Amino acid sequence: MLYKLLQKRRSVRTFEPRAVEPEKLERIFQAALLSPSSKGIQPWSFILVDDPALLTTLSNCKPHGASFLANAAFAIVVCADLEVATAWIEDCSIAAINAQIAIEEEGLGSCWIQIRGRKTQDGKPSTEYVKTSLSIPDRLEVEAIIAGGYPAEPQIPHSLEDLKWERVHHNSFGKKLSLLKK
Ligand SMILES: Cc1cc2nc3c(=O)[nH]c(=O)nc-3n(C[C@H](O)[C@H](O)[C@H](O)COP(=O)(O)O)c2cc1C
Repeated sequence: MLYKLLQKRRSVRTFEPRAVEPEKLERIFQAALLSPSSKGIQPWSFILVDDPALLTTLSNCKPHGASFLANAAFAIVVCADLEVATAWIEDCSIAAINAQIAIEEEGLGSCWIQIRGRKTQDGKPSTEYVKTSLSIPDRLEVEAIIAGGYPAEPQIPHSLEDLKWERVHHNSFGKKLSLLKK
């Protein structure tokens, strides 16, 4: 089941104009909160945004790759408390992908929107733009925003034929992996 889900998951950037059921959102956050983290510190905070005006504001956090947020049913803003974290990028990335997998499991779609290291149209850090828009305290850093909702178009699953198996090595770099007896 998990393997099929992983194959089916694609980035979704067009959404149906309908709300997502609260129980689905609760399970998605449950999945994120169950994530492993360095030293078990769990440095993350998640902000659910479902106010259409705020979604539109967030869609302007950078000039490319975020405009579709305006039509998402919800967004999850993934933040980390830098005062406590020892590996915040890893911790937040794991929590974000767990949320994306849960979103898929709920029959929804999602897309990661990179915030860390990105700039707004007028050259300011996107993270500051998001922090100001949502009153996020200074000590927090914003890593990414996950846009979600019901996909407006069917997703085309990844093809197993196209997997880059040459990126997997066996015992030493450059040695092909050969697990199955032919
Ligand atoms: C770290 C990271 C940053 C990404 N940033 C963006 C982004 O800012 N905007 C966007 O539309 N997609 C973004 N994506 C989605 C990728 O473009 C997408 O995952 C990739 O093209 C593979 O397609 P798939 O998700 O359908 O398998 C990001 C994905 C990752 C993992």
